[in-house]
Amino acid sequence: MKLLMAANWKMYKTGAEGASMLKELGERMGALPVDREVAVFAPFTALAACAATCPATVRLGGQNCYPGEEGAFTGEISPHMLQAEGCSWVLTGHSERRSVFHETDAYVGEKTSFALRAGLDVILCIGESLEERDGGMLREVLERQLKTGLADVPESFAPEHIAVAYEPVWAIGTGRVAGSAEIIEAHGIIRTFLKSLYTEKGSEIRILYGGSVKPDNCPEIIRLDNVNGVLVGGASLQAESFAQIVLS
Ligand code: PGA
Repeated sequence: MKLLMAANWKMYKTGAEGASMLKELGERMGALPVDREVAVFAPFTALAACAATCPATVRLGGQNCYPGEEGAFTGEISPHMLQAEGCSWVLTGHSERRSVFHETDAYVGEKTSFALRAGLDVILCIGESLEERDGGMLREVLERQLKTGLADVPESFAPEHIAVAYEPVWAIGTGRVAGSAEIIEAHGIIRTFLKSLYTEKGSEIRILYGGSVKPDNCPEIIRLDNVNGVLVGGASLQAESFAQIVLS
């Protein structure tokens, strides 16, 4: 199983900035180790420019999509439009979409299923808030988000077209990375759930960790049980630090 090293640029970078960073990233990464795969989730407006300079070793993705092909949905972007700009991946359920834009578990599930059926590969993001963790609700929250997020995702999409990112909300953009024991526990819960849903294929679905991943903590994180890659925000914005992470 290849490790999936993913960059989430969030609302950073114009097309010109993204394009020049990808060019530099390609130079810094060189040929990838055989066990690595790289995806960059750029803002919609940067996708076309990024596609023009994107190294062959990097796959582009959108950070969001609407669960429909086209129509009167002002401000929205369909999976088909993402594909037309060079994307083969999309994120669903990022905690910022859940909290800032009030996306429900059911809506995240709808997007996940629609995007997969449209031919995109999907990273479904899940994770608990600090209150939920402190309230002893870790397992309940992860299982609920997985159950609803994957409700309409048949086994045929597993394992290669779907990945799950575990991103504890309290570790995103805070500099506070989850400890090894916390990551192992959460990824174990996710793995057990995936196996119950998809049997053997559930063992091969990649589970990424996200939340304050940096070049210095990445080597330790990717060696933990059931960690099959990382989803990186802040440290993915510079070619130097993201290349270091990819080559960890
Ligand atoms: P961070 O963001 O690496 O800046 O914590 C991760 C994410 O939100 O995907």
